[in-house]
Amino acid sequence: MPKLDRRHFLAFVGALVPSFFLAKAEAFSGFSLKKAANSELGAYVTKSSAIKVGQSRVYTGKDSAGGTVEVILSRTKKSLIALNGRCTHQGCIVELKKAALVCPCHGSVFQASTGAVVLGPNGSPKNTISPLSKYRVTEKLGKIYIK
Ligand code: FES
Repeated sequence: MPKLDRRHFLAFVGALVPSFFLAKAEAFSGFSLKKAANSELGAYVTKSSAIKVGQSRVYTGKDSAGGTVEVILSRTKKSLIALNGRCTHQGCIVELKKAALVCPCHGSVFQASTGAVVLGPNGSPKNTISPLSKYRVTEKLGKIYIK
């Protein structure tokens, strides 16, 4: 590995830091479905203005058993949807790539706006696995909740 002088090292780190914080900011929410189990609305995830029409964003929180869960919120012209980010094949966490959710384990692809299967694992037909599961999503007074 080439040696970096102090100036080049700081420039390298400076280039990495903003993208790291942007990625983390997009993925963090801290909601808890367990704490919100008795709430009618469910767990608060983010403000409504965070998801524009045509956008999908990933939020991390706790499920009803206290385990980590990733939820993908997507807004279309007609609806707002909340998908469980756990792949229905063998449970890996899918990754958001533009309008698609891609599983890093065996390559399944899901539509971010519906959770429908686009491509099954290892290139198999889409009817070989189930769509991503959904949470009930509610918008009230400019806030988004899931249950
Ligand atoms: S676990 Fe997602 S494709 Fe296998």
